[in-house]
Amino acid sequence: MRVLVTGGAGFLGSHLCDALLAKGHSVVCADNLLTGRMANLEHLLDEARFEFVEQDVCRAFDVGKVEYVFHFASPASPVDYLHHGIETLQVGSVGTLNCLELARKHHARFLLASTSECYGDPKEHPQKESYWGHVNPVGPRSVYDEAKRFAEAATMAYHRTHHVDTRIVRIFNTYGPRLQINDGRVISNFMKQALRGEPLTVYGDGLQTRSFCFVSDEIEGILALSRVSEHLPVNIGNPREFTVLECAQVVLQVTGSESTVRFEPLPQDDPKQRKPDITKARTLLSWEPKIELQRGLELSLEYFRGAVASRDW
Ligand SMILES: NC(=O)c1ccc[n+]([C@@H]2O[C@H](COP(=O)([O-])OP(=O)(O)OC[C@H]3O[C@@H](n4cnc5c(N)ncnc54)[C@H](O)[C@@H]3O)[C@@H](O)[C@H]2O)c1
Repeated sequence: MRVLVTGGAGFLGSHLCDALLAKGHSVVCADNLLTGRMANLEHLLDEARFEFVEQDVCRAFDVGKVEYVFHFASPASPVDYLHHGIETLQVGSVGTLNCLELARKHHARFLLASTSECYGDPKEHPQKESYWGHVNPVGPRSVYDEAKRFAEAATMAYHRTHHVDTRIVRIFNTYGPRLQINDGRVISNFMKQALRGEPLTVYGDGLQTRSFCFVSDEIEGILALSRVSEHLPVNIGNPREFTVLECAQVVLQVTGSESTVRFEPLPQDDPKQRKPDITKARTLLSWEPKIELQRGLELSLEYFRGAVASRDW
């Protein structure tokens, strides 16, 4: 297949490009490099089946005939979407409509990278796909949460109205090599601070929970979803739940760091609990994550060491 990956210069998009190429497909990556980096694609630039197009997907565009569109373009970390609020709303809305239009034109299948943030600060735990969420529409995080909720609605509308063969993956917190070191999320913050010998910053009492999925598990789940005919959202994430404090302990163990922990006030709308119910993915895709947090951090350690040492950040 010839496949389009939007946001392919980002963390997840670049791993998706790798996985699609490894399966023998040709990949066109469209990215405006707002939060992505060419360094994530450097190893692919000599590959004959790989094309990079510098493109803002909020402008109408075409890349020729493609059979699958994976729409991953969007700032994803709180640091990025708080800094690029309007761009985040644009790519979730206009950008998603453009990508759906392109899929419709080429009779291509379509997969939207959505997010657990659609559940907001959930009142239901763990979160099943049938839960409609608890989102503050005017809080600082709304630029991301509501953009993704709009993107899901647009995807379902193209499916219902134009019969585009669509899928929606709700991605939960994913980590691994190429994760931006300054993305403000728990793993990157802790790894950076531990490797620099600085105190690990814990917001609130550190008893809020997170679940962390290693990138190879996440990509495997997304590819499994791309092959089945399910149009409603599917959670892909790791249901093993850690308190932020437990996560800090694992990071200290893997890095061998002697850093301490420093407590700071909880930011506004910070979710207290986040854990996917992956029954649907297990049943539908026979998929489940295999890599434990400790192993995933060991597999990421070399990357984080290099990133911390690099002057790019
Ligand atoms: N990483 C996670 O844990 C996670 C969790 C939930 C959802 N997601 C979703 O997965 C997708 C990828 O996330 P990521 O972590 O790789 O983020 P990332 O910031 O590393 O990658 C996003 C990519 O999209 C590109 N982009 C942004 N706006 C664009 C535009 N208008 N036109 C073209 N390209 C544009 C960026 O330059 C970047 O390369 C996002 O849609 C995100 O919402 C990620």
